[in-house]
Amino acid sequence: MTTVTTPTQIADPASAARTLLRLNTAYFQSKVLQSAVELGLFALLAERPATAETVFERLGVHARPGADFLDALVGLGLLERTDGLYSNRPDAAAFLVPGAPGYLGGSIAQHARRHYRSWASLTDVLRKEPAGGESRPHPAGGEPAKVQLDFHKDFENLDNVRRLMGHMDVFNTFVAHELDRCVDWPRHRTFLDVGGARGNVAAHLVRTHGHLRGGVFDLPAVRPCSTSTWRPWARPRTSTSRRATSSPTRCPSPTW
Ligand SMILES: C[S@@+](CC[C@H](N)C(=O)[O-])C[C@H]1O[C@@H](n2cnc3c(N)ncnc32)[C@H](O)[C@@H]1O
Repeated sequence: MTTVTTPTQIADPASAARTLLRLNTAYFQSKVLQSAVELGLFALLAERPATAETVFERLGVHARPGADFLDALVGLGLLERTDGLYSNRPDAAAFLVPGAPGYLGGSIAQHARRHYRSWASLTDVLRKEPAGGESRPHPAGGEPAKVQLDFHKDFENLDNVRRLMGHMDVFNTFVAHELDRCVDWPRHRTFLDVGGARGNVAAHLVRTHGHLRGGVFDLPAVRPCSTSTWRPWARPRTSTSRRATSSPTRCPSPTW
């Protein structure tokens, strides 16, 4: 038998319900942040504080939802509004303006484009198909969101690869510093960063540990985005095609 708990049986029902409803709509906040990055709002406000009208005109945004959008960003603590002028708050200026050393926008934009839509299919991804292949009714009613994403397609277009690399850039700085801390580098002379993206981690390692020589193994499509200090690969002995992930292909010899 199902046990039913009524709200009056818990300590602070209003607060518990509010917490759950906040959780339910948490993606509103993500989307506001992601749209601000995608539209280039933080970059615009890094030039100078601006009125709502200027923002709408420069970014090509509708005034009606735009006004609420700007105020949502004020509410999230990312913008400040003083005498009708919007400006970036310090955290936004440090992490959301392109070109800032701590820029996180590459990853935020990738989440907007890709991850957000993938997560929309979480229920379908989790649910096993019933035996016999008949589709199960959706417990909440309606049709489940079905988004088929082909990540391999990302590598067929250089702009997509660039965006993907921008996403990686956000994390690999932290990875590089952690590797400094966790690995006893004086004991090693060489390394190969497999799936090393544009080579940021590898570049950091050879810059920081002068005795190290290293290489990066990644898909050929990534090469145009390589960190400029890297020499291109010598022709690898084995394929660097994406098939390497699903077959037991040997890594190529690094070029050190
Ligand atoms: C999640 S990212 C890893 C990020 C990277 N380690 C960094 O420091 O930013 C996965 C990387 O693996 C690469 N990759 C995917 N399939 C590969 C394959 N078959 N061979 C080599 N690299 C591959 C992608 O291009 C991408 O750069």
